[in-house]
Amino acid sequence: MKITLDNFFNEKESILASEKGLKEIYEKLEEATKKISNVVNHAALVGILGKADKENIQGEEVMKLDELSNDWLIESLKSSKYCAGVASEEMETFIAFDQSDNDEAQYIVLFDPLDGSSNIDTCSAIGTIFSIYKRISKGKLELADFLQKGNDILSAGYVIYGSSTILVYSMGNGSHAFTLDQKENEYLLSHEHIQTPAYTPILSINFGYYNIYEKSVIDFCHWCLDADKSSKHPFTQRYIGSMVADIHRNLLKGGIFIYPATTESPNGKLRLQYECNPLSFIQKQAGGKYTNGSHDILEIEPTELHQRVPIALGSSDLVDKYISFK
Ligand code: AHG
Repeated sequence: MKITLDNFFNEKESILASEKGLKEIYEKLEEATKKISNVVNHAALVGILGKADKENIQGEEVMKLDELSNDWLIESLKSSKYCAGVASEEMETFIAFDQSDNDEAQYIVLFDPLDGSSNIDTCSAIGTIFSIYKRISKGKLELADFLQKGNDILSAGYVIYGSSTILVYSMGNGSHAFTLDQKENEYLLSHEHIQTPAYTPILSINFGYYNIYEKSVIDFCHWCLDADKSSKHPFTQRYIGSMVADIHRNLLKGGIFIYPATTESPNGKLRLQYECNPLSFIQKQAGGKYTNGSHDILEIEPTELHQRVPIALGSSDLVDKYISFK
């Protein structure tokens, strides 16, 4: 039997009885990500590959598809009476929608419209990552609404545009995946209650930065690569360079993804609110672990919108082992 996101919400997500607006927010996310999926699939044919000739707030090159995805997500979410505003990795500050003064506009959405965009032109998997919070302000939206910690997330997820388009989400009751049926243009349940194995010998890290990692990271990598057959060593190395794709593989198969601090970037590269918090939330619900090396990522109080944080996440035993090297 085909189970749509809507069927699943009605049957399994009791949180929707009290958080009614969440369902409409998801309808808007579905709408935008289906459009993104469609254009990603035809990107080379519709003149949408390549750079947009501008940089984002973090000084990174913006791709045309980054911009389009950002615009579509904003446009869709703006049309929900429940969504008070959004913040995006691609924009300097948050946007408060016209309806933000209304009592029903209780939710805000943070997103990375197209993670891994440097992979767009070469047809590798990329994705949209999002998190939904309840606003804390009354009346006018405030920056503080967007600086809530990961443990305050009401729901988070991502859509991976790969060999299939898959939406993975959690409302705090497990992580579930829905595959986009291209013919029906409908997300259908494909993985219920994903559980990440506690130990799988897969290491995802960019070895190009080997010389600028701190000693504990290098020591952990050596531990993974040691030829100790009793614990399935040496590990396999898998690194796509698109976090959502690396995390999706590890979520299903197990393994550890690490983007640590380097001597050049003491806070790493990845953004706390747009990437690390939502993906840690999903990983937690799948029985995995996550850390910045010393603290629980989801407990970090953000101080700015585009905060970066070192991260390791994935199989629980591997994250514990990683922390033991610190
Ligand atoms: P971008 O969206 O600018 O391509 O960045 C992608 C992010 C993340 O998805 C990935 O894990 C990481 O950057 C890869 O960075 P490195 O190339 O430095 O390894």
